[in-house]
Amino acid sequence: MSLIKSCGFVRALLKNKDLKSLIEKDIKLIDKKLDEYLIGSNPKELWQAMRYTALLEGKRLRPILALESTRICGADHLEKVIPSACAIEMIHAYSLIHDDLPSMDNDDFRRGKPSNHKAFGEAVAVLAGDALNSYVYQMIIEHTPKTLKPEVLLNVINIISKASGPNGIVGGQVADILAEGKDFDENTYNYICEYKTAGLFEVAMKIGAVITEASKEKFEALSNYGKLIGIAFQIADDILDITSTQKVIGKTPGKDLQSGKATYPIVFGVEKSIKRVNALCKEAIGSIKSKNIDSALLLKIAEEIITKVSNNDS
Ligand code: IPE
Ligand code: IPE
Ligand code: MG
Ligand code: MG
Ligand code: MG
Repeated sequence: MSLIKSCGFVRALLKNKDLKSLIEKDIKLIDKKLDEYLIGSNPKELWQAMRYTALLEGKRLRPILALESTRICGADHLEKVIPSACAIEMIHAYSLIHDDLPSMDNDDFRRGKPSNHKAFGEAVAVLAGDALNSYVYQMIIEHTPKTLKPEVLLNVINIISKASGPNGIVGGQVADILAEGKDFDENTYNYICEYKTAGLFEVAMKIGAVITEASKEKFEALSNYGKLIGIAFQIADDILDITSTQKVIGKTPGKDLQSGKATYPIVFGVEKSIKRVNALCKEAIGSIKSKNIDSALLLKIAEEIITKVSNNDS
């Protein structure tokens, strides 16, 4: 049974018909590869917990961006990017498992199902997150076609690991937790959005350019698009935390206010935040258009982020 049918929480991006036709094949490929790469069996409960969150339906936005950035720069290199694209999704899944823990955001639901620690207990959830976070490098090295030059592979690993650790997600998540209960500080909020979220979007765009050995100009335009829509995506997520429902977002709404997080929409209101999301997404589109990068998918994704916050729909 397909993952899409097995869960009531509808895959948000597929609701947009134009986007659906552009990403359906990518989602199927990513799901198939995630299933194939996460094949360990011992200890059984650890692999079950790793597979549980990683394979549950999510938007798969980050690996889709990695595939698209590769298609833009050189479609015949697509096979070489698939393990790294899936690695980004696995890192994302690990970050969600840890983000939901009682010691962090304490959310009982994720992707429309009980969160990992609710299904497997806290200790296994922590370890499943750790396991995903380190398994990705073994997986990339073992599954990337040998036709990719070792120095290029090393660069990909460097970029992914940097965006995951203290100079990326972990740094952003620590700042997010430490900011709870404090007054809004715009620099801190920007840092949090950039590091805990936008970094992975930026990496997804970067690796396509790196693997295809694209020009510096293309690399920068694509990275910039990733960073800008990544920041917009986190502000959009913070808006939906206020305006949306559990059925739509698949996680508990209203958590940010409850946890004392000073997000942009909590402090400045939803309307002003939608304007900021709009401006960031338009800037992202401008970044690729200025370099004549022609991608219907990148345009649609930026537009969809605007639509989803404007229509109160994820
Ligand atoms: C949720 O990301 C966490 C944030 C960075 C806001 P997504 O909204 O991409 O989650 P999934 O992958 O679709 O579940
Ligand atoms: C995303 O921020 C953090 C991660 C990097 C996982 P949130 O804490 O707002 O994400 P959700 O709302 O729980 O998905
Ligand atoms: Mg969080
Ligand atoms: Mg959270
Ligand atoms: Mg959130």
